[in-house]
Amino acid sequence: MGEKMTTASQNIPVRLAGRRYALSIGCGHTPSLGKTFKQADWGNLAIVLTNPTIRSKAARQVMASFKKARVATQLLTVPDTERSKSMSSLSRLLNQLAGSVGPGMRPVLVLVGGGVIGDLGGLAAGLYKRGIPYIQVPTTLLAQVDSSIGGKTAVDLPQGKNLVGLILQPKYVHCDTAFLKTLPERQFRSGLVEAFKSAIIGDTQLFGLLERRSVEQIRKSPSDLRTIVSRAARVKVKVVELDEFETKGIRMKLNLGHTFGHALEAAVNYSSVYTHGEAVAIGTVVATRIARSLKLISAGEADRIVVGLDQLGFPIRVGRKIKRTVLYDAMSKDKKWTSGAHRWVLPRRVGQVVVKDGVPVRMVRQAIESVME
Ligand SMILES: NC(=O)c1ccc[n+]([C@@H]2O[C@H](COP(=O)([O-])OP(=O)(O)OC[C@H]3O[C@@H](n4cnc5c(N)ncnc54)[C@H](O)[C@@H]3O)[C@@H](O)[C@H]2O)c1
Ligand SMILES: [Zn+2]
Repeated sequence: MGEKMTTASQNIPVRLAGRRYALSIGCGHTPSLGKTFKQADWGNLAIVLTNPTIRSKAARQVMASFKKARVATQLLTVPDTERSKSMSSLSRLLNQLAGSVGPGMRPVLVLVGGGVIGDLGGLAAGLYKRGIPYIQVPTTLLAQVDSSIGGKTAVDLPQGKNLVGLILQPKYVHCDTAFLKTLPERQFRSGLVEAFKSAIIGDTQLFGLLERRSVEQIRKSPSDLRTIVSRAARVKVKVVELDEFETKGIRMKLNLGHTFGHALEAAVNYSSVYTHGEAVAIGTVVATRIARSLKLISAGEADRIVVGLDQLGFPIRVGRKIKRTVLYDAMSKDKKWTSGAHRWVLPRRVGQVVVKDGVPVRMVRQAIESVME
């Protein structure tokens, strides 16, 4: 608690077949980004993509750092909404890139923002001229522990989220936890759920830390924040290293809490009734209850997960306003469900999850009923 601001940073390597890049995690180390860019020689034009909310905050610091290092920059913005992850904004962005890049320039997209900017910009980088390099500069907690890592890029279609995309790794991820100071409280909490999820997937020490802290304590402590971001990031890196293209059934573990979470988000039309993290928190309770019914997890460990979520102030029940019929209807549209696999990611204990096929519908219903108010 109360640790002074520091500019020290740590690098986490991401080792993939034939390629390697670093995640640099620090607090207040953004002034060094331009120099890192120049030394690595990823390109000679940094095209910073952001939104109007972040432009005056993190993006300004990023631009200043490039200017100090005498790297040429351009600034592009997209509106601050999930709707920026659409084919029309992708097409607009590609047109802007074509207009910004002069002959002889080696452009690099620098994505300063949350998951929306990262997903849209990463896809544009993969498509423009058959691929230009990009760098992630995540500014939300969700983006720092989750979406900026692993190379998944996408835009949404009217038929569903993330339906058009590529798996394409960035050259570098610059993660400055000082950016999180201006993040609205609810966004911060939402991102923290993903860190909690990562702890269940593979880090008992991180889980222990989250059990001992309140959200307010974490927000006020730069050292806790750095520990949480770097430990959660490591869990995701490890999973991605083992299964970059999601072909081995390992990367799916990152979907803990997301099967029911997605159904809940769909049931409220992706409105602000539930943030993504809140829906995943309740989804984690559902998964834990299913694991308990299957006797995969002990009562004590299952309680730790539910109590941990509750103590951090995350929702663990679905409010009365949500109609069961709408919720079950949303569940029935889930591909993992309708394909007959009845596949769930379930906790075995804190620090270990399994992917389980053939989960009986009756148990799923029981678990869902247990979270309905
Ligand atoms: N690629 C992946 O692996 C992956 C993983 C998880 C989620 N996602 C995607 O990520 C998206 C959600 O990302 P998100 O939660 O970061 O949402 P977001 O990008 O919409 O950002 C949330 C809000 O916070 C604001 N904001 C961002 N940084 C800020 C800062 N430092 N200070 C103040 N305000 C700030 C944004 O302007 C926005 O209003 C979804 O589209 C989801 O599909 C992708
Ligand atoms: Zn998620």
